[in-house]
Amino acid sequence: MAPIIFSGIQPTGRKHLGNYIGAITQYVAGQDRGEPAIYCIVDLHATTVAYDPAELRARVLDTTAILLAAGLDPERCILFRQGDVAEHTELCWLLTSVTALGELNRMHQFRDKSAAQRELVSAGLLLYPVLMAADVLAYRAGEVPVGEDQREHLELMRDIATRFNARFGEGLLVVPEQRIPAVGARVRDLQSPERKMSTTGGSEQGTVYVLDDATTIMKKFKRAVTDSDDPPVIRCDEDKPGVTNLVEILAAVSGVSSDSVVQELASARGYGDLKVAVGEAVAAELAPLQERYRGLRDDEVALEAILAAGAAKARAIASVTLADVRAAMGVGPPRG
Ligand code: TYM
Repeated sequence: MAPIIFSGIQPTGRKHLGNYIGAITQYVAGQDRGEPAIYCIVDLHATTVAYDPAELRARVLDTTAILLAAGLDPERCILFRQGDVAEHTELCWLLTSVTALGELNRMHQFRDKSAAQRELVSAGLLLYPVLMAADVLAYRAGEVPVGEDQREHLELMRDIATRFNARFGEGLLVVPEQRIPAVGARVRDLQSPERKMSTTGGSEQGTVYVLDDATTIMKKFKRAVTDSDDPPVIRCDEDKPGVTNLVEILAAVSGVSSDSVVQELASARGYGDLKVAVGEAVAAELAPLQERYRGLRDDEVALEAILAAGAAKARAIASVTLADVRAAMGVGPPRG
């Protein structure tokens, strides 16, 4: 049976190559398998750290245009904004009853993000993974395409669903499976390959943005940190995170295995050839997306209309789950 696919993405115009390879290309592929494939721009999650309200609206539209430019088709998937579907926040609250405070406190992302806050560590930051669980569970999705960094959140989500079913009725919620890509599940920062590529924790020079122009992309790859092996050796190995990262990026954007990239570059003269090859492949991959983005981003009325139509379809599914959950939990009036 075709799975219900669900994934969420934060609203920002600075989506990077990690988001693109680890998640966005999987969303596009999921459109043909998902029944349906549902993708959500998570504006509510974005309010858990300091932010500017007008900016948030603009970033949602940036992200919508990026996703459409990457190949999401509103006829073949449901694309919507989280804040348009109130069922997410309601289910989040209901799920807190089966979520342990200790588990939330232990989440790595909560620890990292709360340590980075200079002023307020919001309760929203602590509840972030519960809202994420609500996002997925509201649609009874079976499959969640994400990068490696979301593994802990996915495990918590599975625990929440299992505990909810044990407490309120087996089969009420679906325990989802994580879907991590074979290559590119963890794209690394080009300057500090021991870290993941990230908008918040990474370096500017080490982060390739989906909307970077070709010259900037080439410059970033040419300056990528590799290693000092002499002679240089192009292979994938835990001790060679910089080289492995470049090989995996090239493999992912060319649609081949890391092994065949290594074989192809067997006669390369040093790391320079690898850097140029990956830079050119990434620039070529992103050029048509950027072109389409420029054509889409200015028509805000059209983008809002796409999100509104997606929200109506999303609400139709989520409201059915919420009615079952409320009934099972004894919340609100009895079902007629
Ligand atoms: P966000 O917006 O930070 O990231 C979007 C997707 O990109 C993946 N990703 C990466 N993949 C490979 N290498 C990297 N360096 C890299 N960095 C990011 C992420 O794993 C993610 O799949 N919490 C989520 C948004 C969310 C969500 C959900 C996801 C909200 N509700 C429900 C799935 C299901 C987030 O912050 O994604």
